[in-house]
Amino acid sequence: MIRSRVIGTGSYVPKKVLTNHDLERFVETSDEWISTRTGIRERRIAVDDTPSDMAAKAAKAALKAAGISPKDIDLIVVGTVTPDMTFPSTACFVQGHLGVKSGAAAFDVSAACSGFLYALDIADKYVKSGVAQKALVIGVDQFSRLIDWKDRATCVLFGDGAGAVVLSAEKGQRGVLSCHIHSDGKHWEMLYSESPCPPSPFEERKATNQYLKMNGNETFKIAVRTMGNAITEALEANNIKPEDVALLVPHQANLRIIDATRQRLGLPEEKVYTNLERFGNTSAGSIPLALDEAVRLGKVKENDIVLFVSFGGGLTWASAAVRW
Ligand code: UT7
Repeated sequence: MIRSRVIGTGSYVPKKVLTNHDLERFVETSDEWISTRTGIRERRIAVDDTPSDMAAKAAKAALKAAGISPKDIDLIVVGTVTPDMTFPSTACFVQGHLGVKSGAAAFDVSAACSGFLYALDIADKYVKSGVAQKALVIGVDQFSRLIDWKDRATCVLFGDGAGAVVLSAEKGQRGVLSCHIHSDGKHWEMLYSESPCPPSPFEERKATNQYLKMNGNETFKIAVRTMGNAITEALEANNIKPEDVALLVPHQANLRIIDATRQRLGLPEEKVYTNLERFGNTSAGSIPLALDEAVRLGKVKENDIVLFVSFGGGLTWASAAVRW
């Protein structure tokens, strides 16, 4: 059986660090409130990098880890809701930046914080069916361009970043075991941004409806319930038990959501990878950014079962199981 094996991971975050203490100067908040309510202590802000720059840098690192050339890639799928431009797609920019061969397929997927797992689901189906041999799957977002930096309820939560994986068509048991993607459009008002991204962070918008809006409290409750259910779906589909899972890499929105999900599964803390303390919620970037760190820290071994779960605007949610 042909599976999509993950043969390389990569990530990129911009250099500029914005700490909770820095935010205390913009809005009425405190490091204590942000860290106890969310687990976040600092985040990165892209000043010189566009989303496609970040995506290309993450992808370059993933290609290097995989030991293959951009010329080997025949499909690029990017999960993002903050593209450089309305069109062309971020994926086409990445293709140009990396020198991926002309004629490869490249497109974006819009699923907010679930963007990476949606992109993985699609790329996996291309690879498994034999349409693509080597695929780049990228998650990237630059929410600093969507945020109202005067709104303490949202500006403390998000950061900018990107992560990528390379999938390769290979025979055997290793690779993507399952992906499940879902949405419920009737709850779109929980988390949305009405207008396209302006070009740079911290830029004043003309109207307040141009900023990202979130009903944090309700989103929190739905996220806890939905992420738990999404993991159960992945476990049942693969006939595996929580104790068979070597590592859970969840969407990095809030440590309290992640902890509730972990406790529902009965997983010990060391089996759940988090890095939101340093990067905040990077939307579609969050899962592949955390995965790349976990891989580079040696937390994922050959044949380990790794689970992913996401939740975000749409509403969208998704899970994936991979035998490493
Ligand atoms: O990635 C996509 C999915 N997104 C999520 O999953 C995010 C889900 N939501 C959350 O993570 C949490 O709801 C938040 C972190 C956004 C908020 O935490 P909360 O415990 O739900 O707080 P709250 O919204 O109920 O607010 C509690 C209090 C309020 O004050 P009062 O009304 O009790 O006086 C807020 O005004 O905290 C106040 N508050 C703040 N105080 C200091 C809200 N934001 C801040 C802040 N600093 N930054």
